[in-house]
Amino acid sequence: GKGVLVQGDHFSTKDEALGLCRRILKDTASVLIEEKFDGEEFSLQCLCDGKTVVGTPLVQDHKRRFDGDCGPNTGGMGSYSLPDHSMPFLRPSDIEEGLEITRRVAAALWEETGSPYKGVMYGGFIATKNGARLLEYNARFGDPECQVLMMRFEGDLVELLLAAATDGGLANVNRPRLSDEYALTVVMAAKGYPGTPEKGGHIRIGNVGAARVFHAGTAVNDSQLVANGGRVLNITALGSSVTDAQAAAYAAVDAIDFPSGFCRRDIGWREVVRERSDAE
Ligand code: GLY
Repeated sequence: GKGVLVQGDHFSTKDEALGLCRRILKDTASVLIEEKFDGEEFSLQCLCDGKTVVGTPLVQDHKRRFDGDCGPNTGGMGSYSLPDHSMPFLRPSDIEEGLEITRRVAAALWEETGSPYKGVMYGGFIATKNGARLLEYNARFGDPECQVLMMRFEGDLVELLLAAATDGGLANVNRPRLSDEYALTVVMAAKGYPGTPEKGGHIRIGNVGAARVFHAGTAVNDSQLVANGGRVLNITALGSSVTDAQAAAYAAVDAIDFPSGFCRRDIGWREVVRERSDAE
């Protein structure tokens, strides 16, 4: 996520790494160094009632600021999800490993704290050639991973969340019911993000058709919608393929007048390339 520096992309040598550590330690108390995993990233958002872990369909985020997955890491610049609960680059064993790691972490939390963890366990994973590897958990849904799921969600979300908050509530819950559609979200951010975002820029939302605009860093100032944070809007659309959902999302983005904002123009690109090569 934001602030993470990856060897090979953001620095190369050990000396460069030490230089970066020294610079970071001027402003913060510590630097966390982790093993680097090579592979594609996927987000597995689960609900947990302490014991039972229920997975939701996988989502792929786009962490880098620039098209082609270049530049600094951000909180996420866009995401997509597919109808089949998986991702084409994953083996069934990757997903099972992700779920199993999550179950074991839930059990360890209970054992170590003496109380069950009830809520969302959102794991960020990398599918390496040796299997799924965990990067981090968040005790919340992902942003912008949640948006694509909510567009497809067909059941009663409150009922599902209440089940997670109840002892044994998820024991009989299978997969949450989602529509058989592809969903894609594009984040519009304020210029300067992920550094210092330009706040106060005017936003005018035109006709976005069937797409939905989720507000994040917005405020109303003198009856005018303005940017009030780094990631400002999430434009989410459904389609019969990722290519279709991408076209609908960018048509909606183009209907939004936000001169001090920007977005990536290639969200979902890996899957669009796959769909194109499957069609050939
Ligand atoms: N998309 C990353 C996060 O929600 O932390």
